[in-house]
Amino acid sequence: MLKRISALVLAGLTAMSMAACGSGGSGGGGDSITMGFSQVGAESGWRTANTKSVQDSAKNAGISLKFSDAQQKQENQIKAIRSYIQQKVDIIAFSPVVESGWDTVLKEAKDAKIPVILTDRAVDSKDTTLYKTFLGSDFIEEGKKAGQWLVEEYKSSTDPVNIVELQGTTGSAPANDRKAGFAEVIGADTKFKIIASQTGDFTRAKGKEVMEAFLKSNPDIDVLYAHNDDMGLGAIEAIEGAGKVPGKDIKIITVDAVKDGMQALADGKISYIVECSPLLGPQLMDLAKKVLKNEQVPARVVTEETTFTQDQAKQALSTRQY
Ligand code: AHR
Repeated sequence: MLKRISALVLAGLTAMSMAACGSGGSGGGGDSITMGFSQVGAESGWRTANTKSVQDSAKNAGISLKFSDAQQKQENQIKAIRSYIQQKVDIIAFSPVVESGWDTVLKEAKDAKIPVILTDRAVDSKDTTLYKTFLGSDFIEEGKKAGQWLVEEYKSSTDPVNIVELQGTTGSAPANDRKAGFAEVIGADTKFKIIASQTGDFTRAKGKEVMEAFLKSNPDIDVLYAHNDDMGLGAIEAIEGAGKVPGKDIKIITVDAVKDGMQALADGKISYIVECSPLLGPQLMDLAKKVLKNEQVPARVVTEETTFTQDQAKQALSTRQY
């Protein structure tokens, strides 16, 4: 009889503790965490790889993921975040399409006591208590690396170097920072001239369209700096369509190092790629668990990245994951 009573008490206690675990504001044990994730969109090969990394890592970490694709629109991301707040998820993560305009919705999350992690892209909010941490690349450094390659490539030439630039999404952190980092490095030598600079919205189609326009109005382009591989790949089509040889008549520098970009680099069409890693999922899930356990996390986690020459791309291609 005593044994039966103890068994019943034990079962009751177990049920009570399981209910407590599942009731929002989770203790961070993994299987009881729900994360709301608002993705920018599906604009590039990088983004597709990033989405897969987040989804796979959530599964592996036992985190239940509510995922939404904002189709490159800030209003959709704000709606998604508000809906995650209403659904009382344990934690929200998002990659902000642009840098500005997030304070109100981030304040709503904070008031609801739902922690937020920024991933991939930053916001320009002055109040850094609105989010727990920011995980992603150093985009200024990426722009600098692109500029450093160019400076080295033309070090023995005194002729003017005419550069066209395909910027990422207007107002986004990678577009702002990759532009600034590049300009800072090449600005030290007046022979480098950016003769045209326009957004290609990080897409292949827009990269092609804008490059066609650049080629029509600028007969003497020496270099294209594209803020991502996809725009560079679209531009290659435009350059070939204009009867020029990418990589020879026009040198091309891009950012990302997705497989298609690496193939074009190995084929000699792109001259240099600065890596930007989309594989942020595992670190994001670790950070989420720590935040929910009230453990200290760094305010900024910078992704480790490298650069690729044409020879390095040939070596790396066979093992490239994305
Ligand atoms: O924020 C990362 C950038 O977004 C990638 O470089 C680009 O390809 C993507 O669209």
